Amino acid sequence: PSRVRTICCIGAGYVGGPTCSVIALKCPHIKVIIVDVNPLRIDAWNSEKLPVFEPGLDDVVRRCRGRNLFFSTDIDAGIREADLIFVSVNTPTKTSGVGKGFAADLHYVEACTRRIASVATSSKIIVEKSTVPCRTAASMRTILESNTSETEDGKQITFQILSNPEFLAEGTAIRDLYNPDRVLIGSLDTREGKMAAHALREVYENWVDGSKIYETGLWSSELSKLAANALLAQRISSINSLSAICEATGADVSEVAHACGLDARIGPKFLKASIGFGGSCFQKDILNLVYLSESLGLTEVAAYWHQVILMNEYQKSRFARKVVQTLFNTITMKKVAVLGFAFKKDTGDTREAPAITLCKSFRQEKAFISIYDPKVPREQILLDLTEPGVVDDFEAVRAQVTIAPSPEEACRDAEAVVICTEWDEFAQKAEDEWRGIYATMKKPAFVFDGRGVVDAQTLRKIGFRVHTVGKGPQIIDPIWA
Ligand code: NAD
Ligand code: UDX
Repeated sequence: PSRVRTICCIGAGYVGGPTCSVIALKCPHIKVIIVDVNPLRIDAWNSEKLPVFEPGLDDVVRRCRGRNLFFSTDIDAGIREADLIFVSVNTPTKTSGVGKGFAADLHYVEACTRRIASVATSSKIIVEKSTVPCRTAASMRTILESNTSETEDGKQITFQILSNPEFLAEGTAIRDLYNPDRVLIGSLDTREGKMAAHALREVYENWVDGSKIYETGLWSSELSKLAANALLAQRISSINSLSAICEATGADVSEVAHACGLDARIGPKFLKASIGFGGSCFQKDILNLVYLSESLGLTEVAAYWHQVILMNEYQKSRFARKVVQTLFNTITMKKVAVLGFAFKKDTGDTREAPAITLCKSFRQEKAFISIYDPKVPREQILLDLTEPGVVDDFEAVRAQVTIAPSPEEACRDAEAVVICTEWDEFAQKAEDEWRGIYATMKKPAFVFDGRGVVDAQTLRKIGFRVHTVGKGPQIIDPIWA
C-alpha cells in the first residue's frame, strides 16, 4: 500500500480538478481533497454542472465524489490532513511590474507555499503541479524552511518539494491522464528527495506503467515542461509559416505536412495548419521561457523562441486581413458568421482563443458578428470581446455581436462564414445542410476555413467561394493550363 494516504490539491481549475479526480478514481485507498479560494468554483464541482467541460470528466467525478473525492473551500483543513499536497494554482503572465508581458506571475504559488508553512502540523511532500519557471522550487523551499514550526509532540516539521508538471491537453484530459506518454517527477538528489519522489511514483503506479515514470532533478523537470510546450508550439508556427507560402504558390499545406510527417524523424502529429494556436499554456509558457533566457543574458535564445509567438500573431492577423480583402476590402456593416469560439474542439475554454483576436479585428472594421459555439457560454464570449477599461464598450459589444443558437442561425443573412474551431459538427455537416445555409446567405457567399475542416470542393459545387488556410488559389499560368 502507498505511503500516501491523503492528498490535498490546491487549485480546482482545469488541471487540479481533472488530475486529482482521476487520482481519486484510480486510487480508492487514497482520500483526495481538492480546495480552492473561489467558492463558486467549489460549489460547481459539488453540483451536477461541473465548472470544466471535458469529455469523460462527469463520469469520473460521479464515481468518486463523496467516496474518496471531496471539493472544499477549507484550504487549511485540507493542508493539515494531507501527506502530499499538489500546488495547482494559476501562473498567468504578469500584466504589470518587472517582467510585464513575459514573466510568470508567481504570487498565487507563493501564497500557497506560505499558507502551507503556516498551517501545517506535520511533515508533507509538496508537489509543484503548476507550470513554473526553472528554479521556482528553490524559492518555495526557502520560504518553507524559514517558516517551519514543530509538530504537536515537539518534532521538527519537514517539507520535501517535488516537481511533477502536467502534460494533459484540454479536450482530451481524461484520456491523457489515464494513459500519459510519461509522468515526470523531479526531486532533489538527496535521500529524502528520492524517498518523496518514490512516494509520488507509488501513487501513479496504481495505473501507470512504471517504465513511463521518469525521475529527474528538480530543475530539469521544471524546464522540461516549458521546453515541451515550446517545442509543440514551434511545430505549429513552423507549419503555419509554410501555410503562407502555400497560399501564395498553390501548394497545399496538408499535403506538405503529410509528406514531411512521413519522415519518422519528423512524425505526423502537431502539423495541422490553423489560424494560430490558442489556449492558456503555449503563449504563456513561451513568454516565460523568453523571459528566463533574457534574465540569463541569453539574448539570441530569447529571440529564437519569441519568434514562435510572433509567427502566431502574424498568422492570426494574416487570416483576418484575408477576410477583409476578399470581401472587397470592406466588412463595415456586413454580417460575418463565426463558427466556433473555443481555442480547440471539445473544450469550453476560450483562453487565448484565436477567435478572440479575429472577432476583435472584425469589430474594428465595424462588422456585425454572429457567433455560434456549442460549448462556450454566451456571457463568456461577450466578456472576451469587451475591451477592459474602454468606456461603454460593454454596450458596444452587445450592439455589434450576437450569439446564435445554431450554425444555421449564425449564418442567416451573413456575407461570410469564418470557421475558427474544428468542432466535429462543422466537419461532419452534410452537403444538404450547407446547401440550406447557402440559401439563406447574401451572395456571393464566402467560407473562410481557418481549420481545414470542410470539403472545399463540395462547398464550391454549392456555390460558395471558399478560402482554406494553407491552400492557395490554383495559379492560372498558361504553361500549366
Ligand atoms: P485555473 O485558473 O483553471 O485554476 C487555478 C485555480 O487556482 C483557480 O480556481 C484559482 O481560484 C485557484 N487559486 C489561485 N490561488 C489560490 C490559492 N492561493 N489558494 C487556493 N486556490 C487558489 O488554471 P489551470 O488551467 O488549472 O492551470 C493551473 C496550472 O497548471 C498553471 O500553472 C498552468 O500553466 C498549468 N497547466 C495548465 C494546463 C491546461 O491545459 N490548462 C496544462 C498543463 C499545465
Ligand atoms: C497544450 C499541450 O499540448 C499540453 O501538453 C500542455 O499540458 C498544455 O498545453 P492545450 O493547450 O490544452 O495543451 O491543447 P493543444 O492540443 O496543445 O492545442 C493548443 C492549440 O494549438 C490549439 O489552439 C490548437 O487548435 C492548436 N493546434 C494544435 C494547431 O493549430 N495545430 C496543431 O497541429 C495542433
